[in-house]
Amino acid sequence: MKRISILGSTGSVGTQTLEVIATFPDRFQVVGLAGKSEVELIREQVERWHPEVVALMETPAADELRRRLGRKGVKVLSGEEGIVEVAKYEGADLVLSAIVGSPSLIPTLEAIRSGKTIALASKEGVVMTGRLLMEEAKRSGVDILPVDSEPNAIFQCLRGEDERKVRRLILTASGGPFYNFSESQLASITPAQALRHPTWKMGKKITIDSATLMNKGLEVIEAHNFFDIDISQIEVVIHPQAKVHSMVEFVDGSIMAILGITDMKVPIQHALTYPERIANKLPSLDLTESSPLEFKKPDLEKFPCLKYAYEAGKVGGTMPAVLNAANEVAVEAFLNGKIGFLDIAGVSRKVMAGHSIIRKPHLNDIKEADTWARETAKRNLSRC
Ligand SMILES: NC(=O)c1ccc[n+]([C@@H]2O[C@H](COP(=O)([O-])OP(=O)(O)OC[C@H]3O[C@@H](n4cnc5c(N)ncnc54)[C@H](OP(=O)(O)O)[C@@H]3O)[C@@H](O)[C@H]2O)c1
Repeated sequence: MKRISILGSTGSVGTQTLEVIATFPDRFQVVGLAGKSEVELIREQVERWHPEVVALMETPAADELRRRLGRKGVKVLSGEEGIVEVAKYEGADLVLSAIVGSPSLIPTLEAIRSGKTIALASKEGVVMTGRLLMEEAKRSGVDILPVDSEPNAIFQCLRGEDERKVRRLILTASGGPFYNFSESQLASITPAQALRHPTWKMGKKITIDSATLMNKGLEVIEAHNFFDIDISQIEVVIHPQAKVHSMVEFVDGSIMAILGITDMKVPIQHALTYPERIANKLPSLDLTESSPLEFKKPDLEKFPCLKYAYEAGKVGGTMPAVLNAANEVAVEAFLNGKIGFLDIAGVSRKVMAGHSIIRKPHLNDIKEADTWARETAKRNLSRC
């Protein structure tokens, strides 16, 4: 029995993780759950999975959960300390980290420090902190297993290989729903339109990030930090069919790829069962139905978020944290109807341009850069 805590259990990755766990009742036990404020959904999860500890970020929501659960023998916690307590909970072997955005950073770091194996969906923490999370994992002797389909594919391609023999990583991007839109069409996209992703059903933030290609940009920085490979060796290709999840080219010109259906349950299961592979009932990929498989160069002029992410990754230091924070503020503003779709990139660019980089930041420098970038981004919203 692997004992699992899920941070972000009420989200898209979190609920799909519980679906995977439900198919292997003899292998996994849920011991901890955490989310932000979705009281009723997390109550249902507690009734179904009987975790030992549960936390909600928002205190009134946690109070309401306690009231609805009555005396159920589960510890209900709140705030960041509560989430961190779930992350560190001694009864867990593996922590699946799927809180969206920068709030995922500290709980993931604390889970690493307490020696848990990490199944990592939340990319923002790795983007913000350079090699810090990876070095902490090395010091604590823990594995970080990528859940996101692209780094998971690369992780699988690299298994048993000599990482010094990699020529480049090739990350695939579906291109999102607007890849063929003109600039004037992009300017008038509404949040409702942007939330309809053609291939993946995901949380709101990552759906918008996929439409702007910022998600791919964050993955470039994530892969740079996670696999300790130079940014110049990471290439992005637009692959609308989303069947090739990513590739690794080795120095002899051989390219290894992971293909599969577009279902997050596949990489989630891989991370949960690693290093084993376990049979499941998910359908096979029908290659004849998927053809032709197309690959195109991304248009960095029309989708500048990817260009800014390459720049931030190349500069390093506190810049990726600044880009990440500016993007989080801009995406929320777009979803609330305060700025247009194209302004998301504009806000990120302006905030990056005004930042004085700290080249070798400590965690506190990263937190300060994050706060500075949020405040600066908010000021820039009114100018959009
Ligand atoms: N969705 C996918 O298919 C997918 C694929 C690859 C990678 N990822 C990555 O996985 C992460 C999660 O994505 P998602 O699509 O699952 O997001 P989502 O559906 O929006 O879910 C986010 C989860 O985080 C919780 N949360 C939000 N803010 C929080 C806070 N301050 N403290 C504690 N919990 C908080 C939410 O709780 P409430 O429900 O209570 O608000 C929810 O459980 C992202 O980093 C994303 O890039 C997602």
